[in-house]
Amino acid sequence: MKLPLIAKAFALELGFYLLLKLGMPLITSPLPSSVIFMYMTLVTISILLYVSIFEDDFGNFYIPIVDFIRGDDNESGLRKLSRIAVFILIPLFFGFRSYQSVLPNFNPPFPQRVIHPAPPGSAAGFTNPFGDDEANHEQYIEEGREVFYKNCVFCHGDKLDGKGFFAHALNVKPANFADATTISMLMESFVFWRIKTGGIGLPEESTPWDSAMPRWELILSEEERWKVIMFLYDYTGWKPRTWELEGDE
Ligand code: HEC
Repeated sequence: MKLPLIAKAFALELGFYLLLKLGMPLITSPLPSSVIFMYMTLVTISILLYVSIFEDDFGNFYIPIVDFIRGDDNESGLRKLSRIAVFILIPLFFGFRSYQSVLPNFNPPFPQRVIHPAPPGSAAGFTNPFGDDEANHEQYIEEGREVFYKNCVFCHGDKLDGKGFFAHALNVKPANFADATTISMLMESFVFWRIKTGGIGLPEESTPWDSAMPRWELILSEEERWKVIMFLYDYTGWKPRTWELEGDE
């Protein structure tokens, strides 16, 4: 039996849709629905181009559609019913889709704060000018201790555990340097950048709660900032992360 043109076109559309929707996940990965929509638009345009090339074909293609929509006097009851059903179902379908798309979403957005964001490129170049000066090491740490207990203790706490007496009022809580998740896993240059630019210097992904960490470049000299870092590592016993260590892992 020769299939009417419209049935072939419909079968082709359906076949392509199933291939994209169900076949692609088997071959590669599921396609986003916007891509499927784009492909299906192209398929539809191609089919319309194909059937409209010859006038006969085009007639065969659209006359059944027109007949179905228009109906005629001696049509069967079934055909009339199916026409009414289609005219009710189509608006219902699109109405339902629009309703779904404007429904408010009651799931709260889950703000993920990136605690250790990627620093700006310039931050990689910070190196401790006192790092190699073994002779005065103790001296620098002493000076760093002074900087810490004059400036940082209020938030980061006597024991560097983030429990300074301002801490309970802050959200985000001050970093706990004694914990293995802060300075122990950071490079010195990163720590220096954080102290230099503070909460203000954090990129977008580290909000939604603003960090109270002050921007120390406005308050402390560069030397003081390096010395306080040396104190942080000395007191907690952590070693800053380095590239060499990373290679060994
Ligand atoms: C007003 C309170 C406050 C003071 C004072 C303060 N900090 Fe902070 N600091 C914070 C808060 C809050 C955070 C955690 C949020 C963040 O990462 O910015 C933090 C984070 C840090 C971090 C980042 C740790 C990490 O894991 O990324 C470093 C390093 C740091 N502080 C060092 C210092 C030093 C050094 C001083 C003193 C010179 C100091 N802070 C003083 C509030 C403070």
